[in-house]
Amino acid sequence: MAEKKSNRGAWNSKLGFILAASGSAIGLGNIVFFSSNAYQYGGGAFYLPYFLALFVLGIPVMILEFGLGSTTGRAFPEALYRTVGKKGEFIGWWALSSALFITMYYVAILGWALGMMFGAFGSLFEAGATAPFPPFSQPTTGPSAITYFFNLITTWWPLLCVLIIWGLNMLILWKGTATIERAVRIFVPLMWLFMIGLIVRGLTLEGGLDGVLYLFTPDIEGIKEPTVWRGAFSQMFFSLSLGLGTMTAYASYLPKDADQVNNSLLVSFMNCGFEYIAGVAIFSLLFVFALNPVGGTLSLSFFAIPQGISAFPWGVRLFGFLFFFLLVIAGLTSSISLIEGPASALIDKLRISRAKALSIIAIPGVIGSVCYTLPQVIDPGLNGNGTLGLSLLDVMDHWAFNYSLLTTGFVTCILVGWVFGAAKMRAIVNEHAKIKLGVWFDILIKFIAPILLGGVIIWNLISEFTGDNIYGGGVDLGAYSWIPYVIPFVWLIGATAGAAYMTFGRSYASPTPAPEAPSTHA
Ligand code: TRP
Repeated sequence: MAEKKSNRGAWNSKLGFILAASGSAIGLGNIVFFSSNAYQYGGGAFYLPYFLALFVLGIPVMILEFGLGSTTGRAFPEALYRTVGKKGEFIGWWALSSALFITMYYVAILGWALGMMFGAFGSLFEAGATAPFPPFSQPTTGPSAITYFFNLITTWWPLLCVLIIWGLNMLILWKGTATIERAVRIFVPLMWLFMIGLIVRGLTLEGGLDGVLYLFTPDIEGIKEPTVWRGAFSQMFFSLSLGLGTMTAYASYLPKDADQVNNSLLVSFMNCGFEYIAGVAIFSLLFVFALNPVGGTLSLSFFAIPQGISAFPWGVRLFGFLFFFLLVIAGLTSSISLIEGPASALIDKLRISRAKALSIIAIPGVIGSVCYTLPQVIDPGLNGNGTLGLSLLDVMDHWAFNYSLLTTGFVTCILVGWVFGAAKMRAIVNEHAKIKLGVWFDILIKFIAPILLGGVIIWNLISEFTGDNIYGGGVDLGAYSWIPYVIPFVWLIGATAGAAYMTFGRSYASPTPAPEAPSTHA
């Protein structure tokens, strides 16, 4: 077990690990996706399911993912293989293949954020920008972030930005934990600093508190909707970086005696703390400037926030730049973890070098990200209802974001809870934990989490296929209207085939003993 561990890399300090894991958790999910989900599901209606999800799903599943990593010293598929056998390994690879699909569009969004960041010192905050298709082809009288964005994505700049972001990811991952740790020591404190700057600015503007009220006033009616629950659960999984094996990969570089209860509490509270701060900052701007976000996921952070910033009495370019710089560094510390999950698993299984593992991921990854950003993909015929690249992203996000994380979480709970044994996992974790887990942990992992997750998945799948259209099927995509029907299959078949090949096409080199519960376990 520990024999190969030193070659795999190890965190220099607990702080390094906490910075890396919280850097993974805090990302576009906390700023872009959280604000758009909270807005879409009606602010106050979102909170109750979200809060419940933190304690009932988020923290217990994180303890599970951390525990799997540090007790086995291996990435997600092998950690599951050692604990529950081949079926576990299969779901491990399935999750990592899904991670690759998510990484593709995650990096594309980061590329656009980088483009907007440069734009803050370019023409983003100047009037008169136009895009080649209506209704954005009219010169604007004031600065308009929407027009700037649609203009930007019809150029080749985002392609360059996406390549820069992939390059930065490779650079940070090049020497594994050593280079990751160096990056997160700078980026993670910096992003807290910027976020605090933004919230102070937002709240000190007159009327800033109204947004906070909208966000926090409970709305009991809204929670009757199944989609609110799916949205809240998926958002919690995504935000905490669960369900794609990321946290297991990071925890596999920890010593066996790490206190995983403590680590999980620290990381999840830091993540949710950041998310609340981001939510307050964003919603305060929204209300101060009476902004009405239209359209999809990106609109709040890409259009509404810069629009708010452009109305600041001073420091427009500086705050605009800081906001997008914040997105870029918060996103980078997450995208590296999305890539490190599969990279460490490939290194473990194929015994290949890190450079080779990173190339195996980066080649399809870059191609995928580029697909979202090529100007050719932008179809002028869509009349501003969206662009093909954005619609593609939205549909892929719908399936991968909502279903892969929750499905992996569901299967992991069933396998570890019932096959390996929740009590055994609890005993292993408790051995080094200051705050001991009680029997409630077993009940959560064996019953409550799978019932909630399974219920939400089934409930949503039913509404997915009983509606008039498959997701995205109602959007006017011209000649490309078949795309929303194909994407779920591309994702499902792609992830399943990848998982089957990695699980059954190859086997691990050395015999792999399962971790034992400590003998003192009661
Ligand atoms: N948690 C990150 C965010 O909020 C994204 C992320 C990184 C992620 N690694 C993950 C999401 C693993 C799900 C699973 O932006």
